[in-house]
Amino acid sequence: MLAPNFSPFPLLKTERLLLRQFTLADAAGVHQLRSDDAVMQFINRPLTQTIEDAEAWIQLILDALQKGDGITWCICLKNETATHVGSIGLWRIEKENYRAEIGYMIEPQLQGKGYMYEALQAVAHYGFTDMRLHSVEARIDPGNVASAALLKKSSFVQEALFKENYFNRGHFADTAVYSKLAPNYVQANE
Ligand SMILES: CC(C)(COP(=O)(O)OP(=O)(O)OC[C@H]1O[C@@H](n2cnc3c(N)ncnc32)[C@H](O)[C@@H]1OP(=O)(O)O)[C@@H](O)C(=O)NCCC(=O)NCCS
Repeated sequence: MLAPNFSPFPLLKTERLLLRQFTLADAAGVHQLRSDDAVMQFINRPLTQTIEDAEAWIQLILDALQKGDGITWCICLKNETATHVGSIGLWRIEKENYRAEIGYMIEPQLQGKGYMYEALQAVAHYGFTDMRLHSVEARIDPGNVASAALLKKSSFVQEALFKENYFNRGHFADTAVYSKLAPNYVQANE
């Protein structure tokens, strides 16, 4: 059985990004992103209405981290490491199955520049090596072409399509399930 331990918090560095731990000081940036209707279009979560909502979201992230139930990184540009520009995380960890779900978002003005691809490679590497995950899944709205392109570029494969299985913004929406297996899986001795 997987027993994730995220202490000390694993900082991840890529060519242009630093992925660091969230603090409550990131609430304004989180609120800006999570209150943006376009960014949240395919994410079945309520938009934040206030900075306090963003603080509550960060607190959930920090609680999950402490319990080993999930890890979410605050994405920053390397030359501005105090400024949140997005998030990426491994959550819904199925410890018995060595499996987790990945989720991500980045500010609109930074989209389409390869940043999330960079972040996803680092997080997948961490998940498969340090965390010893066997598989990572992503659940997306098939209409989310940016997310689908990112996953395909990152060697995720679509495995399922659930028809109208969730109710989002007044209509029933489909879910495409993608997954990626650990590249060099060594059988766990449990
Ligand atoms: C999905 C998201 C995280 C992608 O991040 P990004 O930094 O813009 O993605 P990248 O620039 O790294 O692009 C990765 C690949 O996807 C492609 N892509 C990105 N946006 C695209 C778009 N709108 N349409 C088509 N392809 C797109 C890129 O072209 C690239 O492939 P390529 O190098 O072969 O051309 C970003 O669009 C986002 O934050 N969306 C809002 C939140 C969201 O929907 N999150 C996912 C919920 S499942």
